[in-house]
Amino acid sequence: MRNHRTAIAGTAAAASLALALTACGQSGAGGSKEKQGDAKGGTIGVAMPTKSSERWISDGANVVKDLQAKGYKTKLVYGEDDPEQQVSQIENLITQGVKGLIVAAIDNKSLDHVLQEAADAHIPVISYDRLILGTRNVDYYASFDNEKVGRLQGTYIVHKLGLDSGKKGPFSIELFAGSNDDNNTRYFFEGAMSVLKPYLDDKRLVVRSGQTALNKVTTLRWDGATAQRRMDDILTSSYKSERVDAVLSPYDGISIGVLSALKSDGYGSGNKPLPVITGQDAELASVKSIIAGEQTQTVYKDLRKLAEVASTMLDDVLNGRKPKVNDVKSYDNGAKVVPSYLLQPVSVDRSNYEEVLVKGGYYTDAQLR
Ligand code: GAL
Repeated sequence: MRNHRTAIAGTAAAASLALALTACGQSGAGGSKEKQGDAKGGTIGVAMPTKSSERWISDGANVVKDLQAKGYKTKLVYGEDDPEQQVSQIENLITQGVKGLIVAAIDNKSLDHVLQEAADAHIPVISYDRLILGTRNVDYYASFDNEKVGRLQGTYIVHKLGLDSGKKGPFSIELFAGSNDDNNTRYFFEGAMSVLKPYLDDKRLVVRSGQTALNKVTTLRWDGATAQRRMDDILTSSYKSERVDAVLSPYDGISIGVLSALKSDGYGSGNKPLPVITGQDAELASVKSIIAGEQTQTVYKDLRKLAEVASTMLDDVLNGRKPKVNDVKSYDNGAKVVPSYLLQPVSVDRSNYEEVLVKGGYYTDAQLR
């Protein structure tokens, strides 16, 4: 499912995508035909997890654009959701003499060894959106308030079902979480559960599948098709005459997979309305789905700002300046608390997508039609 989505988030991202893809195509790990330009700062390696999701294509493009504007050359690589490939890509970047690294990890625990190589070569590392765990060799972390992402999703469900205005239910909910090798997964889930738990405790919300523990609801590599299969199984095993009223989904790709399973089961037609279903990333397919009345909500994270924060952090480190951070306690990676700059996520649904996404310049009207 995720593999089919190629549209590009954000005008800024779209504008620089061609450039980024060129950089990627020409100078993937091992390549050397990097576009020449004013590169007073040397070359920065940018390691992104996968091109199968629209957001990471935008992230790569945005980071490349921002670094180039600061006078760096860039080498952008995508690990295609294969942790070993990402490790060898980063090894290659180090061998090629990059001056700094910006890394969005695939498996947050797989980079220990390669980041020691980076440290030995005095290459600073910015952990991009996903915290790298278990190593001291991460200098800074650029992300969003990830717990808040989950709280926004949980709060949306509670509000949409009317639980916060006295409705008693009981309503059926099913829970989905992200990849178990992504540190964010826990934050999203715990944030959402902090809001949902009181309603689960007093049975106004019921998980008919019984699958409530994080290790029962994760979705390896955030894969939509995997989520679709799990939702199919849940519908078959736990819903006969009952109906699903809400689905906690942590990410748009998962929401689209869950929606496919629901639609195959007759939801969205006749007397079976689609449940409330959350998401994250405001990917184009999901914003269109929200406009069409299918997915209900997403959490928008302005990737343009994330790229700007990460590239400014690295530029600061490389120039002996102290990067701006706004959180020095939340993100302990097991080896140290990584100083972080966390941006604010925003809940988006049909009522505010125009205001937030179109007026905010993230999508044009034409892209959403
Ligand atoms: C997470 C990220 C989410 C979503 C997900 C799947 O690490 O924070 O915004 O993109 O990966 O790609």
